[in-house]
Amino acid sequence: MLDYIIERTNKYIDSMPKKERKKFGQFFTSKETARFMAGLFTIPEDLCMVRILDAGAGSGILSCAVLERLEQIGSVQMIELTCYENDNNILSLLKENLMACKDNSEKNIQIKIITDNYITSQYLDFNSMLGSNPNPVKYDFVIGNPPYMKISKDAPEATAMQNICYGAPNLYFIFAAMGLFKKVATRSWNYRYTHNQ
Ligand SMILES: C[S@@+](CC[C@H](N)C(=O)[O-])C[C@H]1O[C@@H](n2cnc3c(N)ncnc32)[C@H](O)[C@@H]1O
Repeated sequence: MLDYIIERTNKYIDSMPKKERKKFGQFFTSKETARFMAGLFTIPEDLCMVRILDAGAGSGILSCAVLERLEQIGSVQMIELTCYENDNNILSLLKENLMACKDNSEKNIQIKIITDNYITSQYLDFNSMLGSNPNPVKYDFVIGNPPYMKISKDAPEATAMQNICYGAPNLYFIFAAMGLFKKVATRSWNYRYTHNQ
């Protein structure tokens, strides 16, 4: 499946001018690196349900690599995959690729694509500000290849995460900080699914 997604991504790269992709810091992970990254997660033997976040999902290469790994694990029954991606040019490819992964899987996979800005749509929660959700959704596994892009100090993403920006802000560390915030602190809820059966 990953080969198929890489092939389709290469076609997208050929059809989309670099200038357009650069606006979103859009560069894609190689198959080898994606598999390596997916291999870094420690997965408990009795894991039943898993929530994954792919922030800045692009064409879904990293999501696909994680799904491929989870496919090998018999205990995993249900996978909830949430992808953030806000470049309209790539959304249809992302949707098609993730549907292909789902269709090729034996697992129960639920896919949610959020087309909002990953940072500005969640900064209230990150900063525990008025109007924030006291129980924001958290994920077992957070994967991502963030946009490496310098932004100005008054860019919306930098002002949204002011307390982590010192000097010249770059989207990559803002994404990383949000990723740490979105990671579940304990794994206990994974087993709730089993207990509720
Ligand atoms: C470096 S690319 C990585 C793509 C893919 N994850 C991969 O590894 O092949 C970063 C992706 O983040 C998306 N992106 C950039 N800024 C974003 C934002 N504020 N919110 C959501 N997605 C964003 C870009 O459009 C791009 O697809």
